Amino acid sequence: MADINLQEVHDFMIEIARKVGERITSATPSTGAAGSKKNSVDLVTETDQAVEKILSTSLHEKYPTFSFMGEETYKPGDKLTDAPTFILDPIDGTTNFVHRNPYVAISLGLAINKSPTVGIVYNPFTQTLYSAIKSHGAYLTHFLTPQPQPQKLKLPLHPPTPLTPLSTCLIAIEWGSDRSANDFAVKSRTFTKLAAADGGMVHGLRSLGSAALNMCAVAAGEMDVYWEAGCWAWDVCAGWVVLGEAGGRVVDANPGGWEVGVDGRRYLAVRGGEGQEGVIREFWGLVEGRFEVGG
Ligand code: IPD
Repeated sequence: MADINLQEVHDFMIEIARKVGERITSATPSTGAAGSKKNSVDLVTETDQAVEKILSTSLHEKYPTFSFMGEETYKPGDKLTDAPTFILDPIDGTTNFVHRNPYVAISLGLAINKSPTVGIVYNPFTQTLYSAIKSHGAYLTHFLTPQPQPQKLKLPLHPPTPLTPLSTCLIAIEWGSDRSANDFAVKSRTFTKLAAADGGMVHGLRSLGSAALNMCAVAAGEMDVYWEAGCWAWDVCAGWVVLGEAGGRVVDANPGGWEVGVDGRRYLAVRGGEGQEGVIREFWGLVEGRFEVGG
């Protein structure tokens, strides 16, 4: 790791994401022959596949010794190793993309020893970029500004207010694409419990439709907590670095798991601020059941 120039990797990731962004914004979203994966709500478009191909080719050319894990080329059984690994979702928020909802991002991370180390989350529609290198802070860059230079802001955007009690929190949730069996029931019951007057009665529940953008919204301080099970390393790796550098923390979506791997598929992400541990415990106290995914 000592001989990897992380700043160079970070800058290259941004360069290629910016270049390919136009391919996404100018596309007519078409599921074509690809259509859907495991069920009718797990969508994939020709653009997802084309963008992954372009980005993986560029990454392989520049960093031939690094491993690669991408949403569209992943095969069941592929495992994340300790090797430096690019972890890519070419379009996180594919359902939004198909519906022409602009909450869409290229989510590109580098994990070393399985630890998220560099991350960029780039929304080509709004031309906003979240980026971070471990131990070097997290930033939000707006490329579309009236100023001649892009506007680069340090995250979180405002001094963090206390997190507790959970009832004062704005929480990101997602249904994801698993719509049956135990894990769907755990989500449904917990969403109700979080909202109910005799439960958490939290300020609100929101779904951006992109795990990466949910993580970054928590990093920015625009949401307080994000809870999901079923998504994958490529959905969270890049946002994880951004969140960690903004003072946030990721633990297991199942109660009691203080450590979770980037490929653990169950995530509870909490922004920085006083009461972080307390809000995690409070959230876990409202989880109705246990997820099986990732177990
Ligand atoms: C999905 C999004 C969504 C999350 C799903 C992911 P995709 O990724 O991140 O927010 O709920 O679990 O699969 O399919 O749009 O790349």
